[in-house]
Amino acid sequence: MAREAVRTTNPFYFGDLALDEAFTDRAPELDALKKDMLNGQNVALIAPRRYGKSSLVRRASQELAADEGVLVAEIDLMKAPTKERFASHLARAIHDDLASTSEKAKEGVLRFFSSLRVKPTVTYNALDASFSFSFSSTHTNDDIDDTIERLLELPAQLAAEQRKTVVVYFDEFQEVTSIDPNLPALMRAIFQEQPDVSHIYAGSKRDMMHRLFNAKQEPFYRSAKVMEIGVIPVGLFKTFVEERFDATDRGISDEVVDDLLATTRGHPYATQELAYALWDEVPVGHAALTSDLARALDSVLRSENARFTLLWETLARSRRQLLQALAVEPGHVQSTKYINRHGLPAATTMQKAAEALVARELIAKDADGQHEIVEPFLGEWVKRYAT
Ligand SMILES: Nc1ncnc2c1ncn2[C@@H]1O[C@H](COP(=O)(O)OP(=O)(O)O)[C@@H](O)[C@H]1O
Ligand SMILES: [Mg+2]
Repeated sequence: MAREAVRTTNPFYFGDLALDEAFTDRAPELDALKKDMLNGQNVALIAPRRYGKSSLVRRASQELAADEGVLVAEIDLMKAPTKERFASHLARAIHDDLASTSEKAKEGVLRFFSSLRVKPTVTYNALDASFSFSFSSTHTNDDIDDTIERLLELPAQLAAEQRKTVVVYFDEFQEVTSIDPNLPALMRAIFQEQPDVSHIYAGSKRDMMHRLFNAKQEPFYRSAKVMEIGVIPVGLFKTFVEERFDATDRGISDEVVDDLLATTRGHPYATQELAYALWDEVPVGHAALTSDLARALDSVLRSENARFTLLWETLARSRRQLLQALAVEPGHVQSTKYINRHGLPAATTMQKAAEALVARELIAKDADGQHEIVEPFLGEWVKRYAT
């Protein structure tokens, strides 16, 4: 066997979706989500960036596809800044994800596309045998709206024709109103005629997501069950980290893994990122030491330095002051005690600063109404490099 093939690679992963072995825990969330998807229940899945929303929906989709033959169409609104781009991603998801069962279904979908008021240009890529669909912008507003409506109707029809359970999943749903302020109303009008299709709306920006689904004047009012996911419980994540070290002929003591999780507080991305860096410090056959963890944290902060510096430069003074305080201690940032303890400006200024930082998803309120910095390493970076 070639040497390369037996070399052990880093068992931790951060960045895009956590798949297969990289995915851990979330058993109750997975269970609930799968039930809802199977039952045609709509779900608004809310959590800060990098908590694992997309990974969770992907895992649920894979399991339902394998066990129940469920078809899941996935549309990432981050990739669809305009209605035309939205239509094109919708068309691709319908074609690739919902008509994948047979050539006949695919042909039917292509015929349907050519009957739309705005007809997509269909491009076939021979390299990976994929199709793409692009909608030009030379059309009236009515025409593109009608086209989107008809595309949105299609999943329910395909479900009925193929006798399959169909799920339509919109990722980064907080972007919906920036595509077009009227898009939610248009979508909702169609979706309420599709009781058998489950719609999943995953999004960050908690306040906005809550408003979309819980405010009376919003089209999506009470149209979906709101599901919020938190960090991964530290006790469960601990087992995952230990097992991955074990499986790659390395070890990690109780003390070091506890320190690691105390730093990341079970934040999914941050935990994987720090564990990745730590694993890199440990030679095969050895266990991770406290000094390895310190070096791993240094290296993570160095690699995040450019991003955090850029971010810091965009923040007004009161925002910086608030982040400096929160890096030391989460808290009720408008309370006199907190303000005095950290030498902060007036409560009204802090309220505005907090709102601005919440809108940028840098801080969030915990269950007790205390503000805290969302990303563990940002707090650490602020303490070391910006205080
Ligand atoms: N269930 C999980 N188990 C292990 N790591 C996870 C899990 N969910 C997320 N992660 C980590 O977080 C990263 C971001 O996950 P992602 O699903 O893209 O988050 P979101 O969609 O909420 O932004 C992944 O690359 C992985 O490192
Ligand atoms: Mg995501």
